[in-house]
Amino acid sequence: MTHHLPTVAPFDMAIFGGTGDLAMRKLLPALFRRFVDDQIPPTSRIIGVARAELTDGEYRASVAEALQRALAGHAELLEHIPAFLERVCYRAVDATATAGWQDFATLMRSDDPERVRVFYLSTSPDIFVDICRHLREHNLHRGNSRVVIEKPIGHDLESARAINDAVGTVFEESQIYRIDHYLGKETVQNLLALRFANALLEPLWNAAHIDHVQITVAETVGVEQRGPYYDHSGALRDMLQNHMLQLLCMVAMEPPASLAPDTVRDEKLKVLRSLKPIDAGNAARLTVRGQYRAGASGGGAVPGYLNDLGRDGSRTETFVALKAEVGNWRWSGVPFYLRTGKRLPQRVSEIVVNFRAIPYSIFAEGSGTVQPNKLVLRLQPDEGVKLWLMAKYPGPGGLRLTCVPLDMSFADAFGVAQPDAYERLLLDVVRGNPTLFMPRDEVEAAWRWIDPILAAWQSSSDAPHGYAAGTWGPSASVALIERDGRTWHDDDND
Ligand code: BG6
Repeated sequence: MTHHLPTVAPFDMAIFGGTGDLAMRKLLPALFRRFVDDQIPPTSRIIGVARAELTDGEYRASVAEALQRALAGHAELLEHIPAFLERVCYRAVDATATAGWQDFATLMRSDDPERVRVFYLSTSPDIFVDICRHLREHNLHRGNSRVVIEKPIGHDLESARAINDAVGTVFEESQIYRIDHYLGKETVQNLLALRFANALLEPLWNAAHIDHVQITVAETVGVEQRGPYYDHSGALRDMLQNHMLQLLCMVAMEPPASLAPDTVRDEKLKVLRSLKPIDAGNAARLTVRGQYRAGASGGGAVPGYLNDLGRDGSRTETFVALKAEVGNWRWSGVPFYLRTGKRLPQRVSEIVVNFRAIPYSIFAEGSGTVQPNKLVLRLQPDEGVKLWLMAKYPGPGGLRLTCVPLDMSFADAFGVAQPDAYERLLLDVVRGNPTLFMPRDEVEAAWRWIDPILAAWQSSSDAPHGYAAGTWGPSASVALIERDGRTWHDDDND
């Protein structure tokens, strides 16, 4: 199916933190790919902003290098780099002082004042407030301006509110785009299609037919160079408060009346508000923390977390598993088991919806066990959907039952590569479509649920359980689900 990609209106995008890892690894390659697909009008400008004193030429050279790295294996795209770089320039600005701001403001004003301006704050949240203040002082925040903020949006409810308040003194809520890149993943958006463009699932999508849901986001990487950030964060803040709760919301929300931004976001908010509290009274039973020790990953030996961090004594969790419950009519009594961790055996993100067992079996003993149906939504890699069904094993020898998947791989079905999440999200900001971004109350509702878990952990004398790198986390995580007579889904063993 050929599909015409709509061009967006010309825009200026200033990327604060323009020399940083996210800009180089994700944002600029995403803009480049949209440029190659002709979605970005040639008069648009991309302005890298950071403290380093660089010329436009020096910045362009480092962007070119980053693009070459990001495009490894796509040599056919390299020829577009020079044209893209013509859209790119650089301004050195000190967010906490006045240096560079006048020059930056002059550049921003040097074009049609009506065009959309996007300020992407890909910096530490400590300087969001300073940047916003300068944007206001130079009158750059008016009209068609939008600001994008990246996680971490705070490290608890109070600090999230402080950031939201501060950014809110300069920008209207409708101008603030809080990004959670999981919402830009094709497969996560596909959840909307799967749930609401098919009549088949919705009648079964409730406690009467679903036994439990599992959400796993497993990574093989360790904390790499991000130790100083990560050690103040941990898996609960880094992955669960945002990405995993967003996935849970997409699974659990009621059908929105339309795809209008506020209708979807209101339904997600209701889910967050319905989560049953986990606090000091039940955290030991409902949550498990782990920290990786030395082990094996990617075929080689890897050091433990403390070694990666370069110091002893940290109690930061690199793995978390928990049992959540959505207290409402649809989901009453249906546990949502969530787990995420670094240095696990496989990079895989998936949602597994486990249906209830059949009420009565007509099959003779010896026919094999009738397994409950499972719907596995594979978010990455090998994106696709598998519906596990019972079937008769072919041939004579009596009726033997076996579990087989209806298997849809998106790569095979559509024959196109999945674009990176940022490609969609960055253009949504330019278009002014906030559906896939988090409004203030959603971020704060997520922290309101997370804070008591953090407090319970802090007040506990227990340290995170150790787990060897390259394993599925501490055995306590297996016990968490097995206590309920269930097991973590393992594609290889089904
Ligand atoms: C980020 C986290 O938000 O998401 C990282 O800070 C994590 O720790 C990353 O590695 C995972 O994203 P993805 O798209 O690779 O699953």
